[in-house]
Amino acid sequence: MQPTKTATLSFDGKSIDLPMYSPTAGPDVIDIRKLYSQADVFTYDPGFTSTAACESTITFIDGDEGVLLHRGYPIDQLASKSHFLEVCFLLLYGELPSSAALEDFETRVTRHTMVHEQMHNFFRGFRRDAHPMATMVGVVGAMSAFYHDSLDINDTWQREVAAIRLIAKVPTIAAMAYKYSIGQPFVYPRNELDYASNFLSMCFAVPAEPYYANPILARAMDRIFILHADHEQNASTSTVRLASSSGANPFACIAAGIACLWGPAHGGANQACLEMLKEIGSVDRIPEFIARAKDKNDPFRLMGFGHRVYKNFDPRATVMKQSADEVLDLLGVANNPLLQVAKELERVALQDEYFAEKKLFPNVDFYSGIILEAMGFPTSMFTPIFAVSRTVGWISQWKEQIADPNLKIGRPRQLYLGETTRDYTDIEKR
Ligand code: CMC
Repeated sequence: MQPTKTATLSFDGKSIDLPMYSPTAGPDVIDIRKLYSQADVFTYDPGFTSTAACESTITFIDGDEGVLLHRGYPIDQLASKSHFLEVCFLLLYGELPSSAALEDFETRVTRHTMVHEQMHNFFRGFRRDAHPMATMVGVVGAMSAFYHDSLDINDTWQREVAAIRLIAKVPTIAAMAYKYSIGQPFVYPRNELDYASNFLSMCFAVPAEPYYANPILARAMDRIFILHADHEQNASTSTVRLASSSGANPFACIAAGIACLWGPAHGGANQACLEMLKEIGSVDRIPEFIARAKDKNDPFRLMGFGHRVYKNFDPRATVMKQSADEVLDLLGVANNPLLQVAKELERVALQDEYFAEKKLFPNVDFYSGIILEAMGFPTSMFTPIFAVSRTVGWISQWKEQIADPNLKIGRPRQLYLGETTRDYTDIEKR
């Protein structure tokens, strides 16, 4: 990569030239890697609002225009024309597959859907009422104790096997976490089913009777997977990259990503959003909650609203809203009270000056919970489903980072505001 411009930074009578690079899309970047060695200063950017932490060719977001591209393809086209495993191939390898390449990829993924039988014992160590995300963090991390032949991050083949294993097994683990929490037997994967139908089967089938996934629900499930598949350098992806920068194994890195995703400001928002809609309960209580969201002295926020990057609309939310309508219509619950509350809340918030001024719009999680609940999932499964979808994004970004010859361990610095050196005082003198 060659610099395209130079930025000059002046302070304390010094002047430092910094190289700049121009991306294929998005803002130019100033390369500050040599700033500390040349000028003895750090930059300060908590929350990374102005920091590009890596080079990437996977996902592009234009937050002002509401654009989300995977390898150049717009998310709405992928959601309407593609399917999840094809999107996985695209994210992992950079191009849409030929029919033969897709068939080969699907075979490789489906051959890895079962987990080591001994992993079942891990689940039994958890309390039944454990949150499925707690179980997932533990069990996905424990994969490194079972799949020793795909831990060597310097071996290209092992990296590939680890990627396929994670895409194939994380849905199985998520479904097992659910089954365990409701006291039902684990349901083995069925490799004749597509990815989404298989996931529904592992969650909702019971050994006592046959299970057929409704194709429209399977399509909605698949779309939820696509819409959450990757999202540039978000908090959990950056967590995976940071964990991996030390050379940690892929299963440990993805477990770290799952832990980060769990928070309500990130993947936990879909659960928090549905719980909020239930708490609101009816459209006449909306003004009360809007007032609370605007009150600086109240920590309450409208869950499913706002985004660090999107400041116009979240293109995933548009597709999700359509899907919610389709699914509820199919299930004959189009007048679902939660959907009515969600639609009215969206309408009122979008007309409110506070939300307009702060550029707060519904995000992907605003409608996903309504669909998932209509499908029969409890709220505690919403974030695990997000983790199933995002696994391919995490692992694609992980693979990209490991292949980068410029990879260095991530090691941020700080603006230290603590005490300077002082002498230890003996306890009797304090
Ligand atoms: N309700 C009310 N006020 C809000 C909201 C909200 N949902 N989101 C942001 N604000 C206000 C915030 O109080 C602040 O006001 P002020 O400037 O007066 O202090 C201003 O808007 C900017 O907020 P911020 O927290 O500095 O913005 P951020 O970019 O750091 O946060 C966010 C982005 C997504 C964490 C935040 O909008 C939020 O907490 N939303 C609710 C949780 C949510 O839906 N998260 C899912 C994100 S999409 C899926 C994913 O990425 O996982």
